[in-house]
Amino acid sequence: MTATVHIDLDAFESNVAHLVSLAAPAATWVAIKSNAYGHGMVELADNALKAGASGLAVLDVPAALSLRTHGVTATLFAWLHGAETDFAAAVAGGVDLGVSTFEQLDAIAASPGVGRVHLKIDTGLHRNGVSEAQWEAFCRRAHELESAGSIRVAGIWSHLADAGDESDAKALSRFDAAVAQSKAIGLSPEVLHIAASSAALRNPGSRYDVVRIGIAAYGISPFDDVDGEGLGLRPVLRLSASTDGGSVSAGWFDGIPQVSAASGAWISGGGTPLSVTAVHPRITEVAGDSLPPTVDIIGGEGPTMEQWAAWSNTIGDEIVTGIPSHVRRVFVRG
Ligand SMILES: Cc1ncc(COP(=O)(O)O)c(C=O)c1O
Repeated sequence: MTATVHIDLDAFESNVAHLVSLAAPAATWVAIKSNAYGHGMVELADNALKAGASGLAVLDVPAALSLRTHGVTATLFAWLHGAETDFAAAVAGGVDLGVSTFEQLDAIAASPGVGRVHLKIDTGLHRNGVSEAQWEAFCRRAHELESAGSIRVAGIWSHLADAGDESDAKALSRFDAAVAQSKAIGLSPEVLHIAASSAALRNPGSRYDVVRIGIAAYGISPFDDVDGEGLGLRPVLRLSASTDGGSVSAGWFDGIPQVSAASGAWISGGGTPLSVTAVHPRITEVAGDSLPPTVDIIGGEGPTMEQWAAWSNTIGDEIVTGIPSHVRRVFVRG
């Protein structure tokens, strides 16, 4: 096990600060789902807040509660729930809950205390959210529960698919209509939110009150036509590995994407680009017979995350979250 992930907290803070100022006056919640996209949830949570984020989007209730226990007092937003979700603990922990079903709404209302909920309208992505057909009934139920003092409807939200200007415009107009309908029913949401990185960066009209920024905070571009640097972002993650002089002592088991020699992938050996010829589970072979003791595979003197994403026909999110937890993380500055 010789691969090491180096997380540059200065770069992460600089990205968050940049995105916070870009999105203002909308507030920024940084998405730290999937162990902060493989970077380390607790460390990045603290640093996101230090850099000006006003909240954190964490996927599920256990992650939110672990951050509360850690001492985070800022808004924590969790939206992915299952049959086992402990809503009573979430309400007691002051977690803001995204809700997509009547069952979730009722379960939160039945919990002691006043749960803060954000109603999710499906604006076209079809990845949970209440359908337009059910929206009115959903808002009426929420209003009833709010009037009874069982919940507080703190927000209305959705997720923009980033499926082109026309479909995004359609999704935003569906969102506006759903918000108007909720207000007509008597709801008074404090925050409206729909934009993740791509919309927040390129579509100011999608920012509403809060943007939920994931991938861009990690210095990775959500776009095909520009890399992180081109967006004023700094790379946060560097993956290095030791060598035995002839080959790299890490492979796809350690998160190196399984590219072929034909992909054009390379790594850096002391600043010299070395073509990747084969990625095995524990070993990566490169052209050249004498390697320095350590090589940069992603970031540092090596290629960018976006280059690896292109070589392996995927997106940067998959590469960072695909680096397994057995690979040592070290946190550095500068
Ligand atoms: C609900 C929600 N909000 C925000 C994000 C952050 O998205 P991105 O990484 O594109 O900024 C995600 C990521 O999947 C998400 O599911």
